[in-house]
Amino acid sequence: MTGLSKEILIPQPEISRRVQELADQISRDCAGEEILAIGVLKGAFVFMSDLVRAMAVPCQTDFIRAVSYGAGSESSGNVVITKDVELPVEGRNILIVEDIVDTGLTLQSIVDHIKRRNPKSIRVCAFLDKRKRRKVPFEADYVGFSMDDGFVVGYGLDFNEQYRFLPDVYVIRTDVD
Ligand code: PRP
Repeated sequence: MTGLSKEILIPQPEISRRVQELADQISRDCAGEEILAIGVLKGAFVFMSDLVRAMAVPCQTDFIRAVSYGAGSESSGNVVITKDVELPVEGRNILIVEDIVDTGLTLQSIVDHIKRRNPKSIRVCAFLDKRKRRKVPFEADYVGFSMDDGFVVGYGLDFNEQYRFLPDVYVIRTDVD
């Protein structure tokens, strides 16, 4: 028999501490600026809400959704924007907020898409970074936690749309009896 189990990888208090550190760093770097924070749906909704509330600089918020069509759980490279940013981007300081960078294809497409609207600046903040899995050389400006391979859920991240609501981050394990 094969089943799934999950094990805590990053407990909620550690997440809170790290989110506050990221927010402090962003607040220092963006002092005196007005920011438009753009969350990448759906996974980033939990991180985004914690991050913007921990920041000490004024920000507006919006969301974007990108879908990567292809087989399996990995990005195909064919990234389509299915919900665009609604607020004006031109001339503004953009902070893209993402839950996880994996192949880098989603964020690369989103950054290119936003750049075409002539923002003043673009920064990217990712809660998790699976750097070893990159297919394109994408680097986020701010990273919460770097991790090796492994399927993670919770704190906005899902497995078949389950577990997004969990306050901790878990790694999913396949158990073979
Ligand atoms: C996940 C994650 C990133 C993307 C990262 O989104 O939220 O947006 O994949 O993968 P990449 O670096 O390989 O492109 P997903 O498509 O699972 O959608 P979701 O946020 O709605 O869960």
